[in-house]
Amino acid sequence: MNKKEISVSILDCDFNKLKNEINSINSTNCDYIHIDVMDGSFVPSKAFDFKTIKKVNLYSKKKLDYHLMVNDPINYIEKCSNHNAEIISIHYEENVNIYNDLISIKKLGCKAGLAINPNTKISDVASLFKEINILLLMSVQPGKGGQKFLENTFDKILEANQIINDNNLKIKIEVDGGIDNKFSTKLFDLGASILVSGNFIINNSNKSTAVSLLRQ
Ligand code: DX5
Ligand code: ZN
Repeated sequence: MNKKEISVSILDCDFNKLKNEINSINSTNCDYIHIDVMDGSFVPSKAFDFKTIKKVNLYSKKKLDYHLMVNDPINYIEKCSNHNAEIISIHYEENVNIYNDLISIKKLGCKAGLAINPNTKISDVASLFKEINILLLMSVQPGKGGQKFLENTFDKILEANQIINDNNLKIKIEVDGGIDNKFSTKLFDLGASILVSGNFIINNSNKSTAVSLLRQ
């Protein structure tokens, strides 16, 4: 059984109380803080300038898990690596340099994550598996928190896992979007290693309880 890792998305937290929000995440036994970087072009919203990321870093005791929803990830990768990045995930869609960008992430000493949208097929990206440490399956359309979990994600985990096992690869599957404790058990059972959760944790008055519920 995989270690059940939890990455808390702070996209919808209260940025006027950032220190409190990060401290309350520090006090849970989650594994990562998930930072959604959006450029207003790859997705309509904008999020997380490096001024905010610096503050997150100042308060955080957790490893950072960056999810770049941007058109030119190469312009962000080095900065993320200088800001405590454990994982940097970049999207397959709209990126003709995806292979080189994944290599760049690894050269900077970070774990390379390949993120794919709900409509992107596993077969479209399987040839990149030998270059990645993390496969980030989006279980909502990227761009905002609080959306409904898309259940076609379950089959994609199975399909990806088959390829990973058949080829003896060491890739962790991470799932992101709409995850609460109704879906988490099945996601871990099917072979996911890291679950990203935003609203379910942020809106729970006791974040430690919410993290535990996701691991049950
Ligand atoms: C969506 C983001 C997610 C999101 C997760 O584009 O990538 O990380 O913030 O939040 P919830 O759990 O609320 O869907
Ligand atoms: Zn995300």
